[in-house]
Amino acid sequence: MSEKVYPVLPSAKKNALIDNETYLAWYKQSIKDPEKFWAKHGKRIDWFKPYTKVKNTSFEGKVAIKWFEDGQTNVSYNCIDRHLKKRGDQVAIIWEGDNPYLDKKVTYNELYEQVCRLANVLKKHGVKKGDRVTIYMPMIVEATYAMLACARIGAVHSVVFGGFSPDALAGRIIDCESTFVITADEGMRGGKPIPLKDNTDKAIDIAAKHHVMVKNVLVVRRTGGKTSWAPNRDLWYHEEILSVKPECKPEKMKAEDPLFILYTSGSTGKPKGVLHTTGGYLVYASMTHQYVFDYHDGDIYWCTADVGWVTGHSYIVYGPLANGATTLMFEGVPNYPTNSRFWEVIDKHKVNIFYTAPTAIRALMSAGDEPVKKTSRKSLRILGSVGEPINPEAWEWYYQVVGDKRSPIVDTWWQTETGGILITPLPGATDLKPGSATRPFFGVQPQLVDNEGDVLEGAADGNLCITDSWPGQMRTLYGDHKRFIEAYFSTYKGKYFTGDGCRRDKDGYYWITGRVDDVLNVSGHRMGTAEVESALVSHDTVSEAAVVGYPHDLKGQGIYCYVTLMAGLEGSDELRKELVAHVRKEIGPIASPDKIQFAPGLPKTRSGKIMRRILRKIAEDDFGSLGDTSTLADPAVVDDLIANRQNKK
Ligand code: WTA
Repeated sequence: MSEKVYPVLPSAKKNALIDNETYLAWYKQSIKDPEKFWAKHGKRIDWFKPYTKVKNTSFEGKVAIKWFEDGQTNVSYNCIDRHLKKRGDQVAIIWEGDNPYLDKKVTYNELYEQVCRLANVLKKHGVKKGDRVTIYMPMIVEATYAMLACARIGAVHSVVFGGFSPDALAGRIIDCESTFVITADEGMRGGKPIPLKDNTDKAIDIAAKHHVMVKNVLVVRRTGGKTSWAPNRDLWYHEEILSVKPECKPEKMKAEDPLFILYTSGSTGKPKGVLHTTGGYLVYASMTHQYVFDYHDGDIYWCTADVGWVTGHSYIVYGPLANGATTLMFEGVPNYPTNSRFWEVIDKHKVNIFYTAPTAIRALMSAGDEPVKKTSRKSLRILGSVGEPINPEAWEWYYQVVGDKRSPIVDTWWQTETGGILITPLPGATDLKPGSATRPFFGVQPQLVDNEGDVLEGAADGNLCITDSWPGQMRTLYGDHKRFIEAYFSTYKGKYFTGDGCRRDKDGYYWITGRVDDVLNVSGHRMGTAEVESALVSHDTVSEAAVVGYPHDLKGQGIYCYVTLMAGLEGSDELRKELVAHVRKEIGPIASPDKIQFAPGLPKTRSGKIMRRILRKIAEDDFGSLGDTSTLADPAVVDDLIANRQNKK
């Protein structure tokens, strides 16, 4: 790994909110006296009733996490109303369409009216505080209105990524028993329509079979494409918002009232409903947004994530809007109509801060420098990366070619569960090392442990835990607190286990090495191997499946599937295609298998456990070092697996 150091740029330090001395002093305070530190920083948002208690958290036993618990506030009020006096006419959202000729600007005054109207529509149809609303939307401004409208009336939103299949959507509707869905007729990405309303109809039928009855579907007309219509259930957004008042009082919410559920993949079973609450989440999302991106008033900020992922929640919607920022929302993809699209959007809207994922950087890097060089990008001041480890080559290209060596890169490590960024450089404070997420944010205490749970000091390589709570942390898994404790606090007792491997160098810098559990990271999207396996075995021809990741140049990790067919069946290229299509239908295109190997047998121990270590090695085409295979029930299967591997170099 590269150990090159890029000292803080003088230009980045000049007007920075935080320099290194401040970072060190604040960090120290935040660990020595978290109560005092967060009592002060909790005030960055407005409270209807101020808190007197700050931190009440335990990672032991039943695990209970409460921040600012006797305070009352409202997230929508903090993201809109409190800005109106000073910046009612300032642009809150710049929307850039998939089609480069489509864009629009929404001021804070307009955001207020739209969110109030939508909140009133929800109320009119019986949505109440605590009810779950599913949002299945393309990247259009109405997705943001929907999230904020829920927050305004105290409904809990569950945003489901628009790329998920009807089955995946149904599973998420069923799990949180959501009876109201907000969607669009179709989405538009890279010039291609996505049938969101049709998918919703299918999902609702599946949910009904599980006795979860969706009462209403509110539909935004995005493309005007044809969709079926259930007159007693479906509502047009543009008609509904005209029938209600443009004001809606924000509900008084307790700090620990739920704000949203976001489903994410774990190493076992079905997706987990990560639950975030109101006060602590917003304090943490807004504070990290301000300091990590060194956000100054008037900056134009663009995060390219989708609102269907946590990055979209915290760093397109809640963090930036709580800070009164101008946030850019992009409907399209990096390579449509051309590979210059990102850079053209930066020039068009004079973007100062740009936050994207390594997978996009690698894909654009492979298209060469020319599509970048022909744009100016002179508005850029800060670059960000998130979602997966950024390899030093991609980091250098991002820094040298995209940023013209003027803009520090903040490589931000965090998770759906953490609510906000935990390990990251600060632009005016941290010397950068390509590939390292560098140092912890205020209040974050990382610890490395070995597989036995023994704490590793100094320079070391181990499993990444966090030893104490921070305000943005998830509070539970929706409806399953037991699984919450089991998944995060039982591997290493009394610690939050991230599921990531990590190295700490002699300077105390952290280098995330990737997941150490059965979670894949494919193009920055989390994918449980168990989910792909269960999709495969739901196909008539498959008797057993084992899925592992392997290094992939563009995606970071590719999906490699070992499939055992029902007795008497033969594998073929045609069946491969059918299985790929089947997985896409079950989960969505992001879960498309890259390689399928038909295997008459899988390597199992005598107790029947699949030895994934061996499968990973073969998928990596690195079978010279398989280690001990003598404990296998049938060591001969390994020879067959090697002979028929799909990744021969
Ligand atoms: C990985 C996305 C290395 C990590 C915000 C984590 C990263 C998982 C980085 C969470 C980074 C995220 N460097 N790895 N800067 N950021 N990851 O829940 O494995 O979609 O556990 O949250 O992505 O993915 P999630």
